[in-house]
Amino acid sequence: MNHPHTQADAVLSVSSLTQDELKAQVAQAALHYVVPGEVVGVGTGSTVNKFIDALATIKDRITGAVSSSAASTVRLQGLGIPVFDTNDVPRLAVYIDGADEIDGHGHMLKGGGAALTREKIVAAQSEQFVCIADASKLVQTLGKFPLPVEVIPMATRRLMAQFAAKGGTCRVRMQGDQPLITDNGQHILDVSGLHISNPLAFESEVSQWPGVVTVGVFAFQRAHVCLLGTADGVRTLRF
Ligand code: A5P
Repeated sequence: MNHPHTQADAVLSVSSLTQDELKAQVAQAALHYVVPGEVVGVGTGSTVNKFIDALATIKDRITGAVSSSAASTVRLQGLGIPVFDTNDVPRLAVYIDGADEIDGHGHMLKGGGAALTREKIVAAQSEQFVCIADASKLVQTLGKFPLPVEVIPMATRRLMAQFAAKGGTCRVRMQGDQPLITDNGQHILDVSGLHISNPLAFESEVSQWPGVVTVGVFAFQRAHVCLLGTADGVRTLRF
């Protein structure tokens, strides 16, 4: 006998897709944006790891990848995908990466995986940024997720005071009992308590503070497309 759908059914169907499965969906969908015969820009993180696994299934159709982190490079090479230096491939048709938050304009907060500097570099040389994310990443305003900022360690104390003046509370990201060291040999500050209502102005300002290597707001390098994993399938947002 058929029952009409109840609220409980809806809850059941939402919870039947795990966050991991949503990530796998968008990773698969991102393959449609890979340009045959070209080098693809590859980001970092758990969603991108699924994309790299999917990319391996079409590796004979691409020239290779430019990678945004040591971790992604290891995974790409382990699956037999050639990795090129950014300086050898000055222009990329597409860059595919995740985000910690994305707003309705394609502005993102990134760096949860500590790879924000190289991610911004690769994004800057790509014509199209395709963000792959599960639905939990879509927000009204950036800042609930603690903002990652890569910094030169000797500037840490002053930068903490500068963020405090904006209402932010900083923590140095740790790995065990030592500060985490990025691929570029620097530290990460995670700044909570921010409400980033104007991402372009915020990125512009903070990027100029001496000692900031990269701020994890991607407004200048915003996404052009977001493939969002939802319980109803992949939603495509264009900005
Ligand atoms: C890596 O430094 C980040 O910018 C990632 O893109 C971001 O943290 C998303 O990661 P997940 O796909 O693991 O959520």
